[in-house]
Amino acid sequence: MSCTVSGIGLAGFGTVGSGVWNILEEHGDMISSRSQGSARLEIRKIAVRDLTKKRDGNAPAGLFTTDLMEVVHDPSVDIVVELIGGTDAAFDLVAAALRAGKPVVTGNKALLAERGAELFALSDEFKAPIHFEAAVAGGIPIIKAVQESLIGNRIESIAGIINGTSNYILQRMTEAGLGYPEALKEAKDLGYAEADETLDVNGWDAAHKAILLGSLAHGFLIDYKDVYVRGIEKVTPLDIKFASELGYVVKLLSLVIEQGDGAIEIRTQPSFLSKKHILASVHGVFNAVAVKGDHLGEALFYGRGAGQGPTASSVVSDLVEAARNSRSDRGFLPYQETGKLIEIDDTSTSYYVRFSVTDQPGVIADIATILAKHKIGISGTHSPVDADNPDADFVEMVFLLHKCPFGQLKKALAEVEKLDCLTDRPVVFRIETI
Ligand code: NAP
Ligand code: HSE
Repeated sequence: MSCTVSGIGLAGFGTVGSGVWNILEEHGDMISSRSQGSARLEIRKIAVRDLTKKRDGNAPAGLFTTDLMEVVHDPSVDIVVELIGGTDAAFDLVAAALRAGKPVVTGNKALLAERGAELFALSDEFKAPIHFEAAVAGGIPIIKAVQESLIGNRIESIAGIINGTSNYILQRMTEAGLGYPEALKEAKDLGYAEADETLDVNGWDAAHKAILLGSLAHGFLIDYKDVYVRGIEKVTPLDIKFASELGYVVKLLSLVIEQGDGAIEIRTQPSFLSKKHILASVHGVFNAVAVKGDHLGEALFYGRGAGQGPTASSVVSDLVEAARNSRSDRGFLPYQETGKLIEIDDTSTSYYVRFSVTDQPGVIADIATILAKHKIGISGTHSPVDADNPDADFVEMVFLLHKCPFGQLKKALAEVEKLDCLTDRPVVFRIETI
């Protein structure tokens, strides 16, 4: 068996980078055998910020540098792995690697979703692929599935729980009754959250991943500025409780739906999902992506969506692919210039709307009248009385509303908000039936 050694330049030795080191230490020989000698992977340089930090893994001190560009320009490096995160230094690093004709492996969804157009153009120009299996859904091989396994299908819909941190937090709030800050701290301690967790909880991490999946599925780069995104920061224990009483769970859902005429609906937001829906049982750090293809029908991809082992497993899979140089399409090349995205106001679902109101006669009628004026049907109401305080001055009143365009609902709610009885802004969740 002939053996080709590929030199790896590893930028970043945090949660994921050190996981890559560990896998290659433990399974290097097995990987080489399984790839029939075409992928003998050797890490030759490692870039970090702080050389004095205590590290997971037994990488020799001599491999470390604080000069990011060394992992690109070291002549013994054939493949560059970007695991530092962010969109500035990471962009410079990846661009330099591509210009040097070196394949890149990255888990950085923010970088590709926001600056992918520039990087994929460089990848094309310098004939150097970008591999990014780790960027979406951690250890689940969903990128290869959409790019390769499902190539014979028109992708009708993708519905995913694709942020492990948010899913973990929502579950801990639901089942253990934890407050948001405690649940977030647990997710950080477990290595699920980003270095700056803002993107996890404001929905953008999931949205970046949905943009990548949508771009692959529909062949054009979706501009992140056109995408509707809401996070879980404002989800309250009260809405989680009401959801449960009504037969739903709250999940951060990302949806990419093709509407039949080629136009794409893409959005990420906390949504109500029936407890009976298969995605409702996706707990903790687990992710799931439900894909519907016109010939495939429905398929569900499920697994750990974040954390050291699962993510490093995807990085190593890409490294083997880069070392084998087996891919002819050089990562992702859009096959059409642009596609049509549907305005968020034109997308339709059913809704849960919670009104905080003063308890006075006629409140329900006032709200219902405005909804009727805007031709929005009510499918149910929920207004549990506080058993300890049945004569409370303020009540929470939930309306379940029939499917209508989001823009129509917004107009109705703008009018409801003018009623004197409202004590706070209405809280809206979409009810998804995908
Ligand atoms: P992390 O634990 O914060 O590690 C980041 C590493 O990059 C650290 O070793 C840090 O050095 C190094 N670094 C950052 N900026 C640098 C710079 N300018 N120059 C040199 N080194 C620099 O992050 P992570 O969780 O491993 O995530 C890495 C990437 O993978 C991110 O893009 C993330 O979105 C993605 N990802 C993460 C997960 C996950 O579950 N964690 C899952 C999928 C994808 P120091 O150690 O010296 O600080
Ligand atoms: N912070 C991300 C998450 C890591 O929680 O899903 C995986 O991309």
